[in-house]
Amino acid sequence: MRIYFDNAASTPISEEVLATITQHLKESFGNPSSIHADGRKGRTIIEEARKIIANHLNASLGEIFFTSGGSESNNMAVKCAVRDLGIKTIISSQIEHHCVLHALQSLEEFQDIKILHVKLDKKGRVDMENLKELVSQNSKDTMVSLMHANNEIGTMMDLQAVADMCKEHGVLLHSDTVQTVGRFPIDVQETNIGFLSGSAHKFHGPKGVGFIYINSENIIGPYINGGSQERNMRAGTENTAFIAGMAKAYDLANLEMESRTSTIKELRQYLIDQLQSNFNDLQFNGDWDGQCLYTVLSVSFPATAKTDLMVFSLDIAGISASGGSACSSGVETGSHVMSTLIPEDLRKTVRFSFSHYNTKEEIDVLIGKLKEIIS
Ligand SMILES: Cc1ncc(COP(=O)(O)O)c(C=O)c1O
Repeated sequence: MRIYFDNAASTPISEEVLATITQHLKESFGNPSSIHADGRKGRTIIEEARKIIANHLNASLGEIFFTSGGSESNNMAVKCAVRDLGIKTIISSQIEHHCVLHALQSLEEFQDIKILHVKLDKKGRVDMENLKELVSQNSKDTMVSLMHANNEIGTMMDLQAVADMCKEHGVLLHSDTVQTVGRFPIDVQETNIGFLSGSAHKFHGPKGVGFIYINSENIIGPYINGGSQERNMRAGTENTAFIAGMAKAYDLANLEMESRTSTIKELRQYLIDQLQSNFNDLQFNGDWDGQCLYTVLSVSFPATAKTDLMVFSLDIAGISASGGSACSSGVETGSHVMSTLIPEDLRKTVRFSFSHYNTKEEIDVLIGKLKEIIS
């Protein structure tokens, strides 16, 4: 049996979610836009799913839209804010996920949007004084786009503090919450946020489906033109079964959040203890012992010929981990996050990321394999 420590890249689908999807693939094949009974059945399933997601976020039904995942949701937020809400300046960071980073680069290049980067420390923490300066210098045509938790090093932003700051200065806030929805409680009534994003495969749901929350005050037009699906905001026949599967996964993630969190925190701490007692000269990255995603531990090993091939050697030994983020090209190109934060660092970084399906026994196996690889 392989051991899977790459849950920040994607999570295994849960049995309950699989059962939900299979049932709907078999039984709910009607086009949700059709007016006959089979179509209406699909529509009901989609609206039930919307209700589950909206309830857990304390949002209203009209504020949740289904998408193909985190990348689409984040693109939709920043591009529609520019197109429809008059946004001309976006305050962001250099360690955002590529779907935000590259979307902003294209807005800068083709639409003359000003992109400002907030200062970060070596752990990837937002310099709140610098953010305040940037936010207060800019006004109504400004948006902040900052991720809630970094997928490579786990460092978390104080979302409530940033949301309060944006509210005080009348600045719109988008947050890439792909790594945190279903892992931390988020209440959009308490936290003043314009847009947030979710992706089902990060919380034991299927790939290729996600959602965006859009605060009802932000009136934007369609992101994909065509039919009037998703209240005219995103055309295309809905993936009924996967939307239902995502809602099931999100429901379980929220209902079981406490127990999953404590299981994963314990595993992460166990790995930290084992690494510290078995190896010298390791470096934990990000705000690992502070405000950090409990699912992620990024570790840098001294650069040697053996550690250079660490992810590959672990793979051969039956263990999946990652060199940084999941790379869409399948080729390891190095981490833009680590090279931004610690450019002088030549160490070899491995990201271990956990789910409640992992066990201490798996960590023991990992430690044994690491010893073999390094010695
Ligand atoms: C922080 C973050 N944002 C966005 C995405 C993209 O999500 P998706 O794979 O659903 O497009 C990911 C996935 O790796 C992520 O970790």
